[in-house]
Amino acid sequence: MPKLTLDGKEIEFKEGQTIIQVAMEHGVEIPHFCWHPELSVSGNCRMCLVEVEQIPKLAISCATMAADGMVVQTNSEKTVEARKAVLEFILINHPLDCPICDEAGECQLQDYAYAYSVGESRMVEEKNHKPKRVKLGPHVTYDAERCISCSRCIRFSREIAQEPQLTFVQRGDRVMIATFPGESFDNPYSMNAIDICPVGALTSTDFRFKSRVWEMSKTESVCTGCSRGCNIEIWVRDNKIQRLTPRFNNDVNSYWMCDNGRLNTFKFVNSDTRVDGAQIKKDGNFEKVEWEEAFRFTSENLKKYKADEIAFIGSAFATVEDNYVFAKLAKNLGVKNISYFNYVVPGSGDNILITEDKAPNSLGAELVGIKTPADGFSIENIFEEIKNKKIKAVYILEQSPEFESDLLDALSNAEFVAVHAFNFGKLTDFADVVFPAATYAEKNGTFVNFQGRAQRIKPAVATAESDRSLDGLSQSRWDKFGTEFDRWNQGKRYDAKSSWKILTMLSTHLGEKFNFKMAEEVFEELASKNEYFKGLNYDELGGGGVKLKNLKFSEEAV
Ligand code: SF4
Ligand code: SF4
Ligand code: FES
Repeated sequence: MPKLTLDGKEIEFKEGQTIIQVAMEHGVEIPHFCWHPELSVSGNCRMCLVEVEQIPKLAISCATMAADGMVVQTNSEKTVEARKAVLEFILINHPLDCPICDEAGECQLQDYAYAYSVGESRMVEEKNHKPKRVKLGPHVTYDAERCISCSRCIRFSREIAQEPQLTFVQRGDRVMIATFPGESFDNPYSMNAIDICPVGALTSTDFRFKSRVWEMSKTESVCTGCSRGCNIEIWVRDNKIQRLTPRFNNDVNSYWMCDNGRLNTFKFVNSDTRVDGAQIKKDGNFEKVEWEEAFRFTSENLKKYKADEIAFIGSAFATVEDNYVFAKLAKNLGVKNISYFNYVVPGSGDNILITEDKAPNSLGAELVGIKTPADGFSIENIFEEIKNKKIKAVYILEQSPEFESDLLDALSNAEFVAVHAFNFGKLTDFADVVFPAATYAEKNGTFVNFQGRAQRIKPAVATAESDRSLDGLSQSRWDKFGTEFDRWNQGKRYDAKSSWKILTMLSTHLGEKFNFKMAEEVFEELASKNEYFKGLNYDELGGGGVKLKNLKFSEEAV
């Protein structure tokens, strides 16, 4: 393997790598603006200059190939001076909006200015003024004064989103970003440009001015918008989700996520329609009751029916742990009518990230025993039997918050309907009892994406009972997997529980004695019994998930 010397250390590199790639791989950060690991190289910002022996001028490390025997200095006096000069140049016309800029706290320009700039400007001239609130598209707002013309957004739009909608207009210090005539920056991935903009020139129209970065906690999770399961971070202030951003995972979503997942999968968590506390329908209206009363009511009703008069509808929106305990309870009660609603929207996928299956855990639900249509328990059959009054009691796990289906009308023929729900809606209208289910943002658990990759979700928002020990993690596990708990002390907390926990508590009323105290214990039991999850544990799933073994299916994006 070829070798070069980087800051006095000899290191090996792969043929075809640039100096910045080699440095990054070995933990040496070279400041940069325009370079991004997933985009083509444009080499326009000059921030990544390094000193290379035998090359007379400083070289831009993002566009200089590493070569055998090369000697590179990333922090010599000459490079640091050059960085200061580049920064001074960039800041000539920069508005220094930091106190009102959304990017402050996560801005590359701010960070480098602290590290390398001289602290004051030699310019006395009036700064160049440019448009400050340009709507480039439905979700992205552009501030031309803050733009440093790195062209990342233009390259992203063309190369990753496959929609060349952006370009530079004008020249010199008048240069700006604009959409092509008649175009809007409205591709399904447009908001990733906000993440990769190294300054606050592109901001989220949805998130603008909602919160400073340092006022929020962030928690690793998985998007629930489709079966891709893009890795995300949930940003929370005052116990309310403020935004979602993508988290790098080379096996799933790289650095990206789609705008729909980013904008439309979290607002139901803090919505006015949330189910807050257990509810029993009395005289046509829901009344909040003690949990124990709801368990008693449900168990008494379920006991009235024979096993073949009951249907259990699992959920592609609930975790593996929730579905596992649900399937286990059904099995112990002898219930064979088990299925789940699928959310496949034909033709809605693309060749980038978005899949046709709009639920995050269809595969996970099936793998733990929520039967598939192939087993003869199709959801349509079950609803036909409800219509015919052969199935009289129905137990339905969490569905998508906006879930509507014509099938549901058959529920008016059922004698007893129990539902675990996040929000009130069409489904809860048919219910006799509603258990408030903790959302994906409020619990620990696992989803399996369409590739067969098991990935962890973690609590970012507190429920009424959230507590380091109660929410599924012991103190030592909390230190490893938990979030910034102190942020949880403010804001509204809903009285909701994870479905696996509701089912565990209900099981004792039905003569079963499930004894799960933590989501992790459910997963441990599953991993000891289920061939697909064999030998896995939360440690092993880590931050990026693990591809399940023994799966025989073609990896099609559904
Ligand atoms: S808007 Fe941001 S990403 Fe686009 S060119 Fe300007 S600084 Fe770069
Ligand atoms: S592609 Fe799917 S999983 Fe990824 S962000 Fe979009 S909706 Fe979420
Ligand atoms: S990062 Fe190399 S020139 Fe911009």
